[in-house]
Amino acid sequence: MSSKNQTLGEFIIENQSAFRYTSGELSRLLNSLRLAAKVVNHEVNKAGLVDILGAAGDVNIQGENQQKLDVYANEVFIKTLTKRNIVCGIASEEEDDFISINSQDENHQNKYIVLIDPLDGSSNIDVNVSVGTIFSIYRRVTPVGTPVTIEDFLQKGSEQVAAGYIVYGTSTMLVYTTGHGVNGFTLNPAIGSFYLSHPNMTFPETGNIYSVNEGNYLDFPLGIKKYIKYCQEEEGDRPYTSRYIGSLVSDFHRNMIKGGIYMYPKGSRNPDGKLRLLYECNPMAFLAEQAGGKSSDGYIRTLDVVPTSLHQRVPFICGSKKMVEKAEEFMREFGE
Ligand code: AHG
Ligand code: MN
Ligand code: MN
Repeated sequence: MSSKNQTLGEFIIENQSAFRYTSGELSRLLNSLRLAAKVVNHEVNKAGLVDILGAAGDVNIQGENQQKLDVYANEVFIKTLTKRNIVCGIASEEEDDFISINSQDENHQNKYIVLIDPLDGSSNIDVNVSVGTIFSIYRRVTPVGTPVTIEDFLQKGSEQVAAGYIVYGTSTMLVYTTGHGVNGFTLNPAIGSFYLSHPNMTFPETGNIYSVNEGNYLDFPLGIKKYIKYCQEEEGDRPYTSRYIGSLVSDFHRNMIKGGIYMYPKGSRNPDGKLRLLYECNPMAFLAEQAGGKSSDGYIRTLDVVPTSLHQRVPFICGSKKMVEKAEEFMREFGE
């Protein structure tokens, strides 16, 4: 039975039998992510104290400046998963290509691959605003014991086995799903353990928050422009409140708790949208659906989009079910 003083470690073991496959491998994988999260949390927390702020000077594959903590978080997650010999492949927003993990052990039977946005909302680090980590887990589709291929990574979001995020906020939380609802765990920094603080998280069916970067308004599809005006109209429970942190993880987390909608539509600067299907949209869409919410690109369910490349971007509309349905209605009526 889950209870509020249960630790994440205990919860993972206790719920292991609910997985479709019960070798314990997924439990070990989740435990590795839990460990890496604590290490990154420690570093994020002291970001203001040490000389770790500012761009590292590198430019990642998406042409964005990498912050030092992006690089650090990327290394921690990759090293933890690689050294513990826990997965057969990793893809990261910060790496150009996927990483195939060749175990020394000939009997190596690892089945899982991980896709990760090691540090989400990195532009917020310098100003002491919440950032996060997003992860997405699949079973490989190619045979065990052989090197992973791109096919293992380009699976539809609906094939995810587990997904989650860590929000490094006023408190640090790890929120995840294995397809049996969504549970949230808060880190007690004094003890270094995550405790089940938010069992069975659900999106309110509707809400009064909309989250979108309105600086891009003029570039948005007509359907989104009309929907934003609808959010601002005085009628019934409207106008809604506008809240936009600029860290997907934090914006999603708030909307899930309070009820709301997050949108990153296409625009001339981002012709396909900005967010990455594999590292950001799919894991969030899986969590949203598991929490009774909804996610789409305006027309197609996010989890049904067939990925064609590792760093693919898609328009993203995600949140309380009724709100997403309303935005889709506007997209259908007014389109681009
Ligand atoms: P990342 O830091 O991993 O590159 O992701 C940033 C993403 C997302 O977290 C956020 O919601 C969005 O970019 C903000 O984009 P804008 O600054 O264009 O609004
Ligand atoms: Mn991100
Ligand atoms: Mn990132």
